[in-house]
Amino acid sequence: MDETTRPLDVAALEAAFTPLTLGRPLIYHPAIASTNTEAMALARQGAGEGTLITTDEQTAGRGRLGRVWQSLPNEQLALSLVLHPSFPPHFLVMASALAVAEAIEVTTGLRPGIKWPNDVLVNGRKACGILIETSETIAVLGIGVNVNGSMAESPELAARATTLADALGHPIAREPLFIEIVRRLDSLYAALKAGGERAQRLLRDSWRARLVTLGQRVTIQQGETTLSGVAQDVDESGALVLVADDGARHAITWGDVE
Ligand code: BTN
Repeated sequence: MDETTRPLDVAALEAAFTPLTLGRPLIYHPAIASTNTEAMALARQGAGEGTLITTDEQTAGRGRLGRVWQSLPNEQLALSLVLHPSFPPHFLVMASALAVAEAIEVTTGLRPGIKWPNDVLVNGRKACGILIETSETIAVLGIGVNVNGSMAESPELAARATTLADALGHPIAREPLFIEIVRRLDSLYAALKAGGERAQRLLRDSWRARLVTLGQRVTIQQGETTLSGVAQDVDESGALVLVADDGARHAITWGDVE
């Protein structure tokens, strides 16, 4: 079996996560419907903070706004963490996108950007999607990264999505990236939990610096409503400040940006 299409090396992941709060316990399924659905079910049964569910194949992966998240068996990363954040949820949105973007950068040399609020783009196309679901005190943070394989066979997807292998021109081992994502999340999450405006400000600044959306003309889809204008900035809470075509300013907290 090709080094890069083999199943995840779970023992290597477990060893790397031993000193961390996040990533323990690590629960691996060769295939599962959705790691987010499983993580939420386990959290409701009392699974502790840091519990991580991962798989080599999602058969019913879910995306934001009720969409399907397509699976690339043995070629993607699909992971979900059980969290109990004590800070406002927008910091989890920022921390997750930043952790993935920085992890891709240090393990591959690519220069990812962030499309507001938390899509990670490589060469302007989506390489990672993040789905955060909450229920009472539980937050499940789900991350899907297109690592190996190619979007080339699917022209419809290739227009807006990419894999890291497509961007690099060769496949990579998934474990170093997986480990780097969880390490960075662990450290950002600990800083946010410890509280303090400094950690929040540093996180927001680093996230904002990677936003490719700022200064762009955008269309925002919020259900049946469409808003067009220029994405001028983000406010303190991470909302997108849109100056609409009629000059009105809107603070956008959710929706799809094109
Ligand atoms: C999006 O961009 O729409 C979010 C995609 C999130 C996909 C990940 S893969 C791991 C986790 N399990 C799921 O079912 N979804 C998330």
